[in-house]
Amino acid sequence: MHKVLFLVFLWVCIAACNTSPAYKQASALEEPFRPLLHFTPDSGWMNDPNGMLYHKGVYHLFFQHYPDSTIWGPMHWGHATSTNLVHWKQQSIKLFPDSLGYIYSGSAVSDSLNTSGFAKDGKTPLVAIFTHHKMEKEKDGANTHENQSIAYSLNDGATWTKYAGNPVLKNPGHRDFRDPKVAWYAESKKWIMTLAVGDRIMFYSSPNLKDWQKESEFGVKAGEHGGVWECPDLFSITHNGKEVWVLIVNLNPGAPNGGSGTQYFTGDFDGKNFTPHSTQIKWMDYGPDNYAGITWSNTGDRKILIGWMSNWLYANKVPTPTWRSAMTIPRELNLQKIGREYYLTSLPVQELLHIEGSETKVENLTVKGTVDLTEKLGGINLPYMLKFDLAQAEDFSLTFSNNKGEALVIGYEKGANQYFIDRSKAGLSDFSQQFAAIHTAPRLGGADGLSFTLLVDVASVELFADKGLTSMTSIFFAQHVYDKISVRSDKGNTILKGGLRKIDVK
Ligand code: FRU
Repeated sequence: MHKVLFLVFLWVCIAACNTSPAYKQASALEEPFRPLLHFTPDSGWMNDPNGMLYHKGVYHLFFQHYPDSTIWGPMHWGHATSTNLVHWKQQSIKLFPDSLGYIYSGSAVSDSLNTSGFAKDGKTPLVAIFTHHKMEKEKDGANTHENQSIAYSLNDGATWTKYAGNPVLKNPGHRDFRDPKVAWYAESKKWIMTLAVGDRIMFYSSPNLKDWQKESEFGVKAGEHGGVWECPDLFSITHNGKEVWVLIVNLNPGAPNGGSGTQYFTGDFDGKNFTPHSTQIKWMDYGPDNYAGITWSNTGDRKILIGWMSNWLYANKVPTPTWRSAMTIPRELNLQKIGREYYLTSLPVQELLHIEGSETKVENLTVKGTVDLTEKLGGINLPYMLKFDLAQAEDFSLTFSNNKGEALVIGYEKGANQYFIDRSKAGLSDFSQQFAAIHTAPRLGGADGLSFTLLVDVASVELFADKGLTSMTSIFFAQHVYDKISVRSDKGNTILKGGLRKIDVK
């Protein structure tokens, strides 16, 4: 009897340890770079976000995952869910590699009209469309190792069945033929697949997600071509009553600050062809650490994007021994027109502002020289959102520092009209020669003052300047939390309003 009681007692202790803040603190010591707010896998490797789908009040996030190592390997689709886009719960792995190959990136849709015929007992089929990548075939030179396949779920994403007729879109002989993003095009009552094929995008259409027909190609002579095109997305945003189509094309390497990055085109799409508005090259995020981002499907007029917060330059080397990589904060995309050009704006989703947290304000503060704001901001507690609206578009910088002599500097340079994130002395960087650097981004808008919104977590900062017109995402590995924030303006500038909002995490 005593033995049984002791075992029950032991079990209660273990259960309590797993959920109590004390346990969280212990794991923070063991995993000092584990983000508090951003999604990370419990263990193992993660890259691209996949199959994002909103269904019955739940946001699904699948991801490229190798559970057996922290280095990229045989790809599975890991799975996480959230009801508010901020707090994620990791679920079991949903797609495993099979005889057709690894499960590469792709998307998922709710087939509410049952075009696929997968429905049973009135259950709406959720359908995932992904690339099967056969490693062994890659070496034979036939260029048929990447093919598109589908899987479906009849229990709201809990379990998935691969379609017996896979692959549904066979590779006609392209070395790179992957990352299908599928969306319903209501006008022609067809699914449109946007596919990355080396140096171009191919559009396919299908009435049933199983039979695909090629419609057109885009991009050989457009955009940036410093590397291979990957993970595309196509969607429309209504701007001042006009439907504007946005084509997102991820690219590796060839990003403005090196390695992998995300370019986009705005234009028209008629169900067959994408016609760009202009030849201007546009980047969704100028920081080094936002890649492979695509949007959730089934979110109506809202366009919500999440990216992989790393870069192929060093993703396999970052100093997180038990897991690798985090996702960005989900961002709401909109458009802004400047002159004749449309630009994407991105801002953290509104849901983030509904999470509880304490707030401190700074108003009408004139900064001349360097001013330590740590106390005014009420001390630093991760994670938090920091905002500053400045009276003038003059040189300005913010320094986040700790007592280890590490500092992350973020700011604006009037001469070059650019924003920058300097992580050259931000913390550990010896794992890769390409990590410590100053990254820059052009300022696109011309307002008199500047506006900065920064989301800061244990190992990342996301900058949204000019209300999201320029964004930069950067990871860092500070050996102690940055517990000091100072601002600097040599000429003098006024913080009209600003403050720090601590975000509570579960
Ligand atoms: C992008 C990418 C995709 C591919 C996946 C493989 O980061 O290279 O093109 O599907 O990663 O993990």
